Amino acid sequence: MQNDIERVLFSREDLAEKTVELGKILTEEYEGKNPLVIGVLKGATFFMSDLVKEIDTYLEMDFMDVSSYGNEMVSSGEVKIIKDLDTNVAGRDLLIVEDIIDSGRTLAYLVDLFKYRQAKSVKIVTLLDKPEGRAVKMEADYVGYLVPNEFVVGYGLDYAERYRNLPYIGILKPEIYQEK
Ligand code: PRP
Ligand code: MN
Ligand code: MG
Repeated sequence: MQNDIERVLFSREDLAEKTVELGKILTEEYEGKNPLVIGVLKGATFFMSDLVKEIDTYLEMDFMDVSSYGNEMVSSGEVKIIKDLDTNVAGRDLLIVEDIIDSGRTLAYLVDLFKYRQAKSVKIVTLLDKPEGRAVKMEADYVGYLVPNEFVVGYGLDYAERYRNLPYIGILKPEIYQEK
């Protein structure tokens, strides 16, 4: 599996450091607010589980699965709910956790949905941000790293459901996803 990686962008150690850094900031932000931390399945699960361990305040966790990609390389532009939250978000301070913002469509949809459901506040923390991918206006409140417009995988990020279990984030060799 590791042979399919062109180069490592962020090592295990980089990711651990970044998570601690973001956790400190979020501890200050959410102290006393009992936030609902929402992970977007499946990509965000690795980042989410490491991040919440670094947030030193009471919080609750929930997960939502929305999909726009399937196994395709390019976003279809459609977002649908695969699994909804178990929690009522009305009046709650929400922190959405994402692994990456690309076109921005997933988060645009979720932010609208949670505002419609009368959340008190909605903020976004994303490990990676790929600004060149944007199709709609969307900015996270907290960003781990900016990434170039290349195919990144690992630490939750997949290509055709593979590579999520890489312990680092790397760029996939083009020959893996190009027709030969
Ligand atoms: C990926 C990624 C983000 C989203 C970002 O999820 O994990 O959730 O796409 O893309 P966008 O900004 O263009 O909406 P995907 O839909 O592939 O599902 P997954 O997390 O299960 O891989
Ligand atoms: Mn995702
Ligand atoms: Mg995916």
